[in-house]
Amino acid sequence: MVNRYGYRPTKAVIDTRAIQKNIQSLKSYLHKETAIIAVVKADGYGHGIVEISQAALQAGAEMVSVATPDEAFTLREHGIKSDILVMAPSPVVFAEVAANLAISVTVTSLDWLAEVAKLVDKFKHPLKIHVKIDCGMGRVGIRGKSELQRVIQLIEEVDAFQLEGVFTHFSCADEENAQVTKEQQNLFMEFIGILSEKPKFVHAANSAATLLYPSYQFDAVRFGISLYGIAPSYYVQSQLPFPLQSALSIESELSFVKKIEKGQSISYGATYTTEKDEWIGTIPIGYADGLKRGLRSQEVLIGGERVPIVGTICMDQCMVKLPREMSVGEPVTLIGKQGKEEITVEEWAERIDTIPYEIVVSITKRVPRVYIESDE
Ligand SMILES: Cc1ncc(COP(=O)(O)O)c(C=O)c1O
Repeated sequence: MVNRYGYRPTKAVIDTRAIQKNIQSLKSYLHKETAIIAVVKADGYGHGIVEISQAALQAGAEMVSVATPDEAFTLREHGIKSDILVMAPSPVVFAEVAANLAISVTVTSLDWLAEVAKLVDKFKHPLKIHVKIDCGMGRVGIRGKSELQRVIQLIEEVDAFQLEGVFTHFSCADEENAQVTKEQQNLFMEFIGILSEKPKFVHAANSAATLLYPSYQFDAVRFGISLYGIAPSYYVQSQLPFPLQSALSIESELSFVKKIEKGQSISYGATYTTEKDEWIGTIPIGYADGLKRGLRSQEVLIGGERVPIVGTICMDQCMVKLPREMSVGEPVTLIGKQGKEEITVEEWAERIDTIPYEIVVSITKRVPRVYIESDE
């Protein structure tokens, strides 16, 4: 069959070796018995949920976690057999399916669990449960110790319930000031202290906490953004205990090249006017691909050199000011390395005043993901 994606050269190249290396480095940094939960929600942070899960599990992650029931379904449909945790609240009706597919659910309130308890007769397998404590994130989870006690009691009373984990999520772990994280950690310890029996997995740390606070690793860490080789913040970047390897490159080719005279305008709104006779190249990538309009002065790499985008970024294309005449088909790297130069996800994020997380999940479905396994 014809490869329908082969005609447009724009693609996201994902190096699964980088994912594996990040897991391997993390494994040697953590205690031997600490489990790694690879966070693959939002289509593996835009990198591809199935391929990333496979790579992470192969490299030694024990479990994967997602945000929504359909992400968990996708993983089971594609043959992922590991434990899967849905980290956010799910509708009550999902519990039966979750039990039958061995998907672990997050319990964020006694009321939710009490509703699920009415349905357990239909379960073919026990429901695996992680209880979420809200220690200051203020998003979802149990905030009172008596509610936690009643949740645990209900889990113990119902045979079809199986307590697998208790967890929390830090709100400020990527910041230099450790105060808030310490307070949240102390509160979490108080909650853990009231459990008569410790579940298999107590977990709290996201990437930032994993990398900055090894003493908060408990039984498992939930490693998200740094699995993909990206530091959660500049502060964490400056403190990394091991190097991260970024997995994502965005590549394309020049689709059109022209020389135009001084004083001609480029693209919508005529916001750029050539300062002299200039070579202008066109790249088939635009904001419908995730190259946001705010990136209008961002550089790309062509021939190993940094070349600026000029004029407004269009939906499907953008223009660059070339240093000299170049050919149609010349490779362009928008994120990644060419020669000695590199453009990172972090560079894009800084330019449009956002976080790298938002950049990677904004690369749209139209951009085909191509998987490679680079050499060691
Ligand atoms: C509950 C929970 N745990 C872990 C993570 C992973 O965080 P990070 O990508 O910063 O490692 C997230 C992501 O937002 C999350 O919501």
